[in-house]
Amino acid sequence: MKRFQYVWASAVLTLLLSGCSSSPHGQPQKDSEAIAPSQVLDFTTLYAENCAGCHGAQGRGGPAIAMADPVYLAIVDEPSMRKVIANGTRGTSMPAFAQSAGGMLTDKQVDAIASGIFSRWARKGILDGSNPPSYVARTMGNPANGEIVYGTYCASCHGTGGQGSPKGSAITNDSFLALVSDQGLRTIVIAGRPELGAPDWRGNVPGKSMTDQEITDVISWLASRRVQNPGQPYSASNYEQHLESRHVD
Ligand code: HEC
Ligand code: HEC
Repeated sequence: MKRFQYVWASAVLTLLLSGCSSSPHGQPQKDSEAIAPSQVLDFTTLYAENCAGCHGAQGRGGPAIAMADPVYLAIVDEPSMRKVIANGTRGTSMPAFAQSAGGMLTDKQVDAIASGIFSRWARKGILDGSNPPSYVARTMGNPANGEIVYGTYCASCHGTGGQGSPKGSAITNDSFLALVSDQGLRTIVIAGRPELGAPDWRGNVPGKSMTDQEITDVISWLASRRVQNPGQPYSASNYEQHLESRHVD
């Protein structure tokens, strides 16, 4: 008898609560009914609907880098970020979102996303005293030096020649390099992927930060490993690699 009363009481309570807040059965709500998709300026909604699938819920990272990474946000500037969101990154899966570039969002919405990312997730002063590298490469890289840099800072996790190891995935295979931009690589080397255990530019070798030039060089070496026809295992340069890897066994 007691239990029965309790069930009734909670059913009534549920009805009361749902009556005045959300509508669980899909009836349109007065306030959301009035907002057209192009009028939505709420950051949380815009981010969840357009970005979370790749950059993770609440900016925590997914297939693509975390947006809620204060180290990343201390290195990238807002205009550069806005430009990527508006125009996308050619040759990668980062889409163009601005209507002017064929996307679905208005300029105001692109602004709301870019400024929202900074206002929510940036942390002032987080890199004070650490002389951070430039977001964009300022010089031409030297791939031959980059290979040496790779050996010093990266091989311990990504293996000899970037072929991968239990501590880090392969990063010189053509299918990976075909889908990432040079800036995308640079961003990962500078900011790391903290959510996956990848160190930022200060943490590859304990106590030894990478210099700006070393970062530029290692990216130019990675870029030099791109092949012309990715996915074709018997293109000339790949065929040699393929033979070499068989000799190792
Ligand atoms: C389909 C997957 C996908 C979606 C959806 C997506 N991104 Fe990306 N985004 C990527 C990938 C992949 C990259 C890395 C591209 C590269 O190699 O440079 C990227 C790069 C970026 C960068 C540049 C990072 C850097 O190197 O500085 C920013 C900023 C960014 N995305 C923001 C957003 C925002 C904001 C949204 C939502 C409006 C969004 N992205 C939606 C996949 C996606
Ligand atoms: C302490 C280990 C460690 C070191 C040192 C390290 N990384 Fe990583 N790196 C990781 C981990 C872990 C990930 C994320 C998971 C994965 O891809 O293996 C990662 C991810 C990456 C990615 C993205 C791979 C992908 O599939 O999206 C790139 C590119 C990369 N690292 C480049 C480098 C370069 C270049 C260096 C040297 C400058 C370096 N890393 C040094 C551990 C390391």
